[in-house]
Amino acid sequence: MPKFTGEQIQQLNAKLKTPQEVLRWALDNLHPRIAVASSFGAEDVAIIDMISNINPKARVFTLDTGRLNQETYDVMDEIRSRYNMNIEVMFPDHDEVEQMVRVNGMNLFYHSVGNRKLCCGIRKVHPLNRMLSTLDGWITGLRADQTEVRSNSNKIEIDSQHNDIIKVNPILEWSWEQTWDYIKKNNIPYNKLHDKGFPSIGCEPCTRAIKPGEPLRAGRWWWESDTEKECGLHADHGK
Ligand code: ADX
Ligand code: SF4
Repeated sequence: MPKFTGEQIQQLNAKLKTPQEVLRWALDNLHPRIAVASSFGAEDVAIIDMISNINPKARVFTLDTGRLNQETYDVMDEIRSRYNMNIEVMFPDHDEVEQMVRVNGMNLFYHSVGNRKLCCGIRKVHPLNRMLSTLDGWITGLRADQTEVRSNSNKIEIDSQHNDIIKVNPILEWSWEQTWDYIKKNNIPYNKLHDKGFPSIGCEPCTRAIKPGEPLRAGRWWWESDTEKECGLHADHGK
């Protein structure tokens, strides 16, 4: 695994300005042991378009929790044929899911924050860890204005939550509007849930459309009010 010092990463963050510059550095240095993590929201399809222009063999993976919306599967297949790419779909461990729903029911996430984190752990975080244990870097669609945790991130970072591999957030500094300008200008297939009032896309039972004026992530785990709206992919909730 290539090792970078904190100082080198700091210099790269200062030097590499555009998302394309960041992605080119990442792919030149880490491909094929780097992949885009895609939930097929707006940010991720924009990044997939950029990486396929830089390296048509760049890798993309997704965590299929088993509870995604049909619209998400639709855009997954559209992207697959538009860019002629194999999407690496990661599924949860079936024994863990079977045990979880046997004990807690299919809709356990509505009953407590602990149950919700248990479900996100089994359906998202464990499969993510399984994929990341094979990589030296991963690329995400995080944007700084999404949450407080994310506003403290960098475009390139050492991911101490995942064995110190490199985490690349090329559009960290982009706004929602910039993301959409790029999608429209390049005619990129996007998730049709965005036309139905969903700015942030997760699992079907845990995400609703937002009302005018609500924060972009208000529709995620909408029944929870006081929690940080993170599922553990980008903030450590324990194993
Ligand atoms: S989450 O932590 O609240 O679920 P969010 O939906 O904002 O994350 O997405 C932020 C980034 O996390 C995405 O741009 C993508 O890189 C990654 N991500 C989120 N969900 C998935 C998923 N199901 N599969 C792969 N990557 C994902
Ligand atoms: Fe489970 Fe909901 Fe988390 Fe999806 S978002 S993994 S259904 S708790």
